Order: sequence, then C-alpha cells, then structure tokens
Amino acid sequence: MKTIQVELAEKRYPIHIGSGLFEKLPQFLEGIGWGRERRLMLVADSHVSPLYAERVLKPLEQAGFTVGQITHPAGEESKSLHTLERLVEDCIRFGLDRSGAVLALGGGVTGDLAGFLAASYMRGIPFIQLPTTLLAHDSSVGGKVGVNHPLGKNMIGAFHQPAMVVFDTDVLKTLPEREILSGCAEVVKHALIWDASFADWLMEHHRQLMALEPEVTAEAIERGCRVKAAVVSQDEKESGIRAILNYGHTIGHALESVSGYGAFTHGEAVAVGMAGAALLGEALGTATEVFPFTRELLAAFRLPTHLSPVWAEEELLAAMKRDKKAKKGAYTFVLPTGIGSVVLQHGVEEAAIREVLARLRGGESR
Ligand SMILES: NC(=O)c1ccc[n+]([C@@H]2O[C@H](COP(=O)([O-])OP(=O)(O)OC[C@H]3O[C@@H](n4cnc5c(N)ncnc54)[C@H](O)[C@@H]3O)[C@@H](O)[C@H]2O)c1
Ligand SMILES: [Zn+2]
Repeated sequence: MKTIQVELAEKRYPIHIGSGLFEKLPQFLEGIGWGRERRLMLVADSHVSPLYAERVLKPLEQAGFTVGQITHPAGEESKSLHTLERLVEDCIRFGLDRSGAVLALGGGVTGDLAGFLAASYMRGIPFIQLPTTLLAHDSSVGGKVGVNHPLGKNMIGAFHQPAMVVFDTDVLKTLPEREILSGCAEVVKHALIWDASFADWLMEHHRQLMALEPEVTAEAIERGCRVKAAVVSQDEKESGIRAILNYGHTIGHALESVSGYGAFTHGEAVAVGMAGAALLGEALGTATEVFPFTRELLAAFRLPTHLSPVWAEEELLAAMKRDKKAKKGAYTFVLPTGIGSVVLQHGVEEAAIREVLARLRGGESR
C-alpha cells in the first residue's frame, strides 16, 4: 500500500492506494478517529453498487458501524440538483445527522455528487472518497465537488475536502476499456503539467497501464495523485496555480459541451484539448516542439488528437467563452512551456485559436 498526505493550510488527509484496501476500511476509519457512533451513508451508482457496495459494507458492518445505502442511476445526468434532492431525502429518512458522514463509492460522477451532498447536508458533514475509476484518481483528490446545471457543467458546487481517500485498485478490473483510457488522459495530464520524468515513464509503461498491470497502475495513480496533491496544497481554492489542472480542458470542455456530453468520454475530450494546447503554445511561442511528444504519448494510449469537422468552430468558440475560467469574455488557456511545465495565459487571441482548431481538423495532428 502507498499513502500520500495532502497537506492543506488547515487540514491534512491521507490518500491510500493499493490492493484489497476496502477490507481494511474499519482500521482506516479508526486511523482518522471515526468511531462506531458515526452513522455512515454509502452512495454509489447503479453500475458500481451491485459490483462493490457489499465489499465496502461488509467489513464496516462486521466492525459494528451502521451504514445506509443509496444507489443513483449511472451517468453524468445524475450530477444534478434533482438527484441531489433525492439523496438528501434518503439521508433524512435514514436519520443521518450532523455526526454522520458520507462514503462516495464510484467514479467522478458519484464523487462530485456525493461530495456535494456532504458539503451541503446540514451545512456540511465529512465524507470519504472511495474512487472506482482510473479518472477518479484526479476527481477524488482536491475537494472540488458539485453538480451540473442544464446551462453549464459543474455550475453548482463547493470546495469540500474529503477526510480521506481510499483507492482500492482491485475494482479497476471491471472498468470498461474506454473508461480506462479516459482515466489515462488525466494521468497524462498530470505528467505533462508537472513532471517530465513521469511523462517519459508513462511512454515506457503505457501498455502495462492500459492492461492495468497492478504495480504499474498503482504507481501511475500514486504519481498522478502526488501532482494533484502538490498543486492543491499550494492553492486550495484556485486563486492561482490550481488552474493549471485545467490543462487541455478549455477545448476539452467546449467539445464535451457541443457534443452533448456522451459522444466523448471526459478523457477523450481532454486529450484533444491537450493536443490543441500544445499546438497553441507552439504558435504563441510559449514552448517549442511539445506537440510531437504530446501527440505520441496520447496516441500510445489510443486517445484522440484530432477534431472531426462535425463540431462547428463557432459553437466551440462560444462554448470556450462560457467557460468558468474565462474572464471578461477573453479566452484563457493553460499553455505548455515545455514537457512537464505550463503557464496560465489570459487574453488569448481568437485568431490563434481558430488556427489551432483548423490544424486539429487537418491531417497534421493525426
Ligand atoms: N472534482 C474534480 O476535481 C473532478 C476532476 C475531474 C473530473 N471530474 C468529474 O468526474 C466525472 C467523470 O468521472 P468518471 O469518468 O469517473 O465517470 P463516472 O463516474 O460516470 O464513471 C464512468 C463509468 O464507469 C462506471 N464505473 C465506475 N467504476 C466502475 C468499475 N470499477 N467497474 C465498472 N464500471 C465502473 C460508472 O458507472 C460509469 O458508467 C465528470 O463529471 C467530471 O466533471 C471531477
Ligand atoms: Zn478533467
């Protein structure tokens, strides 16, 4: 087992990564001082619940904890106020009070939704992240929780740090292949923004990671979490450097938005976005020759680096302008300064973005 501590100004919490960890949950709870008087509510989606809820419930119940259970429909649509209201109702009926806590068992959808439930229920109760997707090595760390509004993704939310993250890597075995690759995109992102040696290591080990070879998978998750933890500990509420975690997300979110959430996995959209950011960085002179390596690394993970002409340029640009990070209508991008380092750039000219979108459509990026 590997353990990373997330160090924040007023709080620190552990991330445990390894095989068979759900069995050890009672010890982990003890480790953070949680006693049996604390009622727990386990939240999972309709795919994850039948697969893994028992694995979490059993050891806890055997250790004398009282655990309720809620299952919400799988899919991004569940990250909604409507689902949240239902969850709140179930918590009230279960008798969860301010001494209770939430266990978020699932991918980023459940983590964000159940995390926001914890942030808002009775003005905030603690929660634990139990990630079950590779992508969730990213979403479970850092305390951003929330739901979508029909007019925009993640429009309603909070910063609410988990009390602990327990990543039992055994659960990844049942993950659909496309979801594994989607998670690889965020692993690649963490390497590209922070750690060139991690990027080289990923290039060397991409096959083992895609095949979920246990040692390599645990190391990739650990190194990805270390990057996330390092960035978040410097800027918990995103007043500055934390924005670099959005590398590839300006174009990525726009693509998700115009394609109607579902045509692309989050990781696929971010992969196209990272290819675009690399091209844009080269065009604007923040970096040279980052695109070939970026494309090669993404392609190794069978992630897309080009844009189909189906997605109209005007719509993509309009979506980028609506991005939460956009300031006063100007385009904001995280741009590479090399492999393993990036810079936040405000006021990027529209002409440069149009040029990059055209190059992403052309044969150049294939
Ligand atoms: N809070 C953050 O910092 C942050 C960061 C990145 C992404 N996100 C959010 O994360 C969400 C995407 O997360 P995701 O890709 O994990 O999606 P997800 O939670 O929808 O999981 C993807 C699919 O895999 C299924 N699944 C999950 N675990 C499984 C397992 N072990 N075996 C079989 N099937 C399994 C799910 O039911 C779902 O169908 C988005 O809503 C995004 O906005 C949040
Ligand atoms: Zn992301």
